[in-house]
Amino acid sequence: MTAVVEAEPAERFHSVPLRRVVGRVRREGPLGLLDGLGAQANGALVRLNLGPFRPFLVTHPDHLQHILRTRAANYPRGAAMWSALGRLTGQGIGGEGAQWHASREILQTAFSASYLKSMSEQMITSITAAVDDLAARAGTPVDAGVEMTRVVQRVVDPVFFGSLIPDGEGDRLGEAVATAMSSLLWRMAMPFVPHAVPLPGDRPFKRATRTVNDILRPVLAQARQDPRDGRDIVTKLMQGTGADGRPLTDDQICEDIVALFVAGSESSAIALTWIWVGLVQNPHVYAKVRAEVDEVVGDGPLRREHIRELAYTQTVLREVLRIYSVGWAVPRTAAEDDEIDGVRIPAGATLAISPYLTHRLAEFWPDPLRFDPDRFTRENVRNRHPLAYLPFGDGAHQCLGEAFFHQEAALIVAAMMRRFDVGLAGPVEPKLSLTLQPREAVELVLTPRR
Ligand code: HEM
Repeated sequence: MTAVVEAEPAERFHSVPLRRVVGRVRREGPLGLLDGLGAQANGALVRLNLGPFRPFLVTHPDHLQHILRTRAANYPRGAAMWSALGRLTGQGIGGEGAQWHASREILQTAFSASYLKSMSEQMITSITAAVDDLAARAGTPVDAGVEMTRVVQRVVDPVFFGSLIPDGEGDRLGEAVATAMSSLLWRMAMPFVPHAVPLPGDRPFKRATRTVNDILRPVLAQARQDPRDGRDIVTKLMQGTGADGRPLTDDQICEDIVALFVAGSESSAIALTWIWVGLVQNPHVYAKVRAEVDEVVGDGPLRREHIRELAYTQTVLREVLRIYSVGWAVPRTAAEDDEIDGVRIPAGATLAISPYLTHRLAEFWPDPLRFDPDRFTRENVRNRHPLAYLPFGDGAHQCLGEAFFHQEAALIVAAMMRRFDVGLAGPVEPKLSLTLQPREAVELVLTPRR
């Protein structure tokens, strides 16, 4: 099949025929295809011709500004991927429209700066305990993905559930949500197949959602009977109201909690894994972070004010998320016909925004593959296009957990660095899945520091 898109000036618009897409995926894998498209387009809009599915790939910050800010109302989520995901996360914070808005209002206060501050001591306790547990495993390689998921889970339990979730159930919930998500891949890839027609992921999806409900329902029942100090997310959702002005139902609360797991837990654990890859592969940066941790934290316990004082570490986290953009694609759908930079966008078209590619545009990121945290000094940030960096999205749906992640990640890096010299047991390659992940398990070697 060849390109059938109307002629456009080559520098503004590239159309990529199906045979080239298939050939490239065969030779270089999905990430090779994405890298190739990015290099070819260099910021121009790209339209992939995949037969009936012809999404636009969007990378230039001006185009992102148009879609996510200026004409955001014309670009709701709406894409096929979201409707499949909706079976798991419902129409609240994971959706669009009035109920999304109601859930967003509730959760926005729940993740506010003052809330984060009030939870920081609890976060420090959870992280310190999780890192202490790792000491028993020092010397032998540990799977970074597994261990970072464990740490994240320990942070999330009290924050989400006010510690009402029984020991071990948080891990089981995380696993069930992850299984449900991966079982949905079939439906996401084939959105045109009616739900009445069975697909391979359907059974594991049903089993996993049953597990999710079995775990969450008793927690909700207990939270209603025994309200805690009201700071946890479940209680906040219980106290909030939906689009109809009435309290959220248990179904809606469960869906929002699952959406938070989907949006937050896995991406955080993967990002934390990439942080160790970025640090170990750039020894001069590692040395600077370690010096900062030693100076700021010293021999005493981690404290809330350290989070702000770990300024260089924060720039490293930003650079890690520039290079390893966990959320490598953010889909949107055009509600009505539009035009971006002279290119016609027909109603119904899918637009795949790719932070991964935007973060590699040489016009905004000189020598884009070089790992350089100084790109995030205040002055450099001020002089850059505001949409050149968007690992947490932008606009109405911008990530609610960005500050949460930065707080958690800085504390985890500091807690680990104080106790261990961290090394990698082998090389690491990225791969594209729903997120940008390491191709194989990343093995960390932890050597206790004297
Ligand atoms: C490194 C970690 C994370 C990354 C890379 C990430 C990335 C993103 C991105 C790109 C979006 C925008 C999606 C869109 O525009 O459609 C998003 C939305 C969201 N994120 Fe995150 N996220 C992270 C961590 C978290 C955490 C820790 C939480 C919560 C605890 C969280 C909660 C959410 C929620 C609720 C939304 C949906 C907001 C809405 O639609 O209004 N995220 N995230």
